[in-house]
Amino acid sequence: MKTIIEPFRIKSVEPIRMTTLEQRRQLLRDAHFNLFAVRSQDVIIDLLTDSGTSAMSAEQWAALMRGDESYAGSPSFERFEAAVRELMPFKHVIPTHQGRAAEAILFSIVGGAGRKIPSNTHFDTTRGNIEASGAQAFDLLIEEGKSPSNLHPFKGNMDLAKLEAFLAANGASVPCVMITVTNNAGGGQPVSLANIKAVGELARRHGKPFYIDGCRFAENAWFIKSREPGQAARSIPDVVRDMFSGADGMTMSAKKDAFANIGGWLAVNDDELARTAKNRLILTEGFTSYGGLAGRDLEAIAQGLKEVVDEDYLQYRVRANTYIGERLTAADVPIVLPVGGHAVFIDAGSLLPHIPALHYPGQALAVALYEAGGIRSCEIGTVMFGRQVDGSEKPASMELVRLAIPRRVYTQSHADYVVEVILEVASRKQALNGMKIVWEPKALRHFTAKFAPR
Ligand SMILES: Cc1ncc(COP(=O)(O)O)c(C=O)c1O
Repeated sequence: MKTIIEPFRIKSVEPIRMTTLEQRRQLLRDAHFNLFAVRSQDVIIDLLTDSGTSAMSAEQWAALMRGDESYAGSPSFERFEAAVRELMPFKHVIPTHQGRAAEAILFSIVGGAGRKIPSNTHFDTTRGNIEASGAQAFDLLIEEGKSPSNLHPFKGNMDLAKLEAFLAANGASVPCVMITVTNNAGGGQPVSLANIKAVGELARRHGKPFYIDGCRFAENAWFIKSREPGQAARSIPDVVRDMFSGADGMTMSAKKDAFANIGGWLAVNDDELARTAKNRLILTEGFTSYGGLAGRDLEAIAQGLKEVVDEDYLQYRVRANTYIGERLTAADVPIVLPVGGHAVFIDAGSLLPHIPALHYPGQALAVALYEAGGIRSCEIGTVMFGRQVDGSEKPASMELVRLAIPRRVYTQSHADYVVEVILEVASRKQALNGMKIVWEPKALRHFTAKFAPR
């Protein structure tokens, strides 16, 4: 059959509260046109993030009841550890309450003043934790990955020549090499197996440990299987094991490709590093067998890891996003291509060229999508990146609106509704005006800034 269906039935439902245009206009005014200030009950389709928003399966809910909440020696930890090591066979698996806690522990040990850490693109919490340690974060993405319309199949790849030069130039100050799969900050674009292996080999040749930020490892493995020559016949778990086989460790947010609503881990092979990390964990997160999580959370992650490598799920997952992308492209709505693993990014700068970057075209579009159809998306452009440390403001490199798709939550008719709303807004794009910021905090302004229409 050609139709790719949602490979699940719905057993438990959560009602969506419908709102009227008039109500949404008032809700927008009440929220000062910042979608982070809108209550989730007032959102019809919530595409703010794919993190922690997955629908858990019946087996995951059943596994919760098996959760053993003992402080030490819990079998829930053993099941969690075994599930992680089945796919990523690292020696030490250290649970954390989410991905950034794993990053904070890792970089508090390997980071520090004067250190330089390269990646394809560091996610913002990774960069934040590196910088908080006093180290510097460097993004060495291939050039193709920076162009929204370039159709390269692995736009998350590291630029190997740049990495080689970086390692040669910075030798002693580089404590490790990282790579993020998929590359969230670059549009959820995958990294090829060949590139992951080449980065690992390069790091090894320079005597540097190699860590993978594995948040969306299964989506990345699906892209490897479906796009990389010679990989089509392999099973997803086999591809995943290969992705991690040359790495010395990983950080993970289980809120993505483990179908959990909370959780993460740091995994490493180095005994000494693991000892130090576990001591930090006990200080900041909790004992080594639960690290800031309940036993039931560990069970949900263990079960989620078994489900996320299912090919029917991954095919549906990637196809659902691509479907939205194809329909938008067919209607001449510019998006980042190819569509990535977890989100569709609308190129608001190209859609609304009459709105200057400092009038926030992405925010104007995100607000219009909420007003027209109750869709909550996220501006990734000048609102998020425009304020400089010296207080000045400059346009971001791209003005994007991200539609992040929660896992197993929405159906095809929800996708059709999303497309209909976007096309309706696009049909009257000339009438959309920019926004201005009337109040903003000192840092991370996109979360709490107050806006007004121009
Ligand atoms: C690539 C990547 N790394 C790390 C993180 C941080 O994970 P968490 O939100 O669980 O702290 C995220 C979260 O969005 C991410 O996308």
